[in-house]
Amino acid sequence: MSANPLATAESWDLAAEDYAEFAPAITRPFSARALELAGLTPTSRIIDVAAGTGSLSLSAAGQVASVHAIDFSASMLARLRDGAGAAGFANVETVVADGQALPFEDDRFDAAFSMFGLMFFPDRAKGFAELYRVLRPGGVAVVSSWAPIADSPLMMKMFAACAAADPELQEPQPDFLGLENPEVFASEMLAVGFVGVTIQRHSTSLVFDSAGHLWDTMVLSSAAMQMVRRADGEKLWDERAKAMRDYLSANYRPNSPLSTTAFLGIAHKPRGSAE
Ligand SMILES: C[S@@+](CC[C@H](N)C(=O)[O-])C[C@H]1O[C@@H](n2cnc3c(N)ncnc32)[C@H](O)[C@@H]1O
Repeated sequence: MSANPLATAESWDLAAEDYAEFAPAITRPFSARALELAGLTPTSRIIDVAAGTGSLSLSAAGQVASVHAIDFSASMLARLRDGAGAAGFANVETVVADGQALPFEDDRFDAAFSMFGLMFFPDRAKGFAELYRVLRPGGVAVVSSWAPIADSPLMMKMFAACAAADPELQEPQPDFLGLENPEVFASEMLAVGFVGVTIQRHSTSLVFDSAGHLWDTMVLSSAAMQMVRRADGEKLWDERAKAMRDYLSANYRPNSPLSTTAFLGIAHKPRGSAE
């Protein structure tokens, strides 16, 4: 079992309801960019691995033939199905599965995505290898992961709010061995056989009409914060939430933009590659 709580379905099940409400404001601009980069057509069959509540799946469904949305959290996928039903999409199928062992045959999809999902897999190499395996030769993969927190004023603001509530909190250190290092990102895609690998930086700015709206969006959509909340218990959590909100009230001017940055890895399975 992994030591990272975000590598368990339980933590995402816990976050699912609030994630569905608050996360799309953050993730949708990155999903839109990933879809642009993939160059889909109305006949495209796509797979969205670690699809969550469907930021990419639901943005894609109107432009492609079919969407297979995979996640190990049944609660996240239940919200995705609600979204597909509300939008009237009949071409979206959800499958509860581990992204490191996809329940599909080789060469099945035209495009494969994993937005802010594969980055959590304990065995990322397996995650990339599975995306590669289920793609048809010539198919395209797009994977996203957050850039270092220092590149994202939005994330820095939230870290400062967390630190206001917990002065002993350690400043996050750059993870040179993770996907926030573009060289590692590219080399992990190349290692499983992808060609034409590029890692693009993409930023988006968000505005919030109040400090409370900023807190709700960033804290309620965060599975990590939901785990902290559960560990704290009600009294401690209320104190922590108040300290964070007070910090943001004093340090966020309503409607001022805060940017956040991710890396998107784009690559192809070589044409004529037979597994
Ligand atoms: C930050 S959310 C991203 C969701 C969505 N792709 C988006 O952009 O909003 C991470 C998702 O990865 C899923 N996940 C994490 N590890 C997984 C694994 N090993 N297999 C399948 N899903 C996984 C979680 O359940 C969660 O839905």
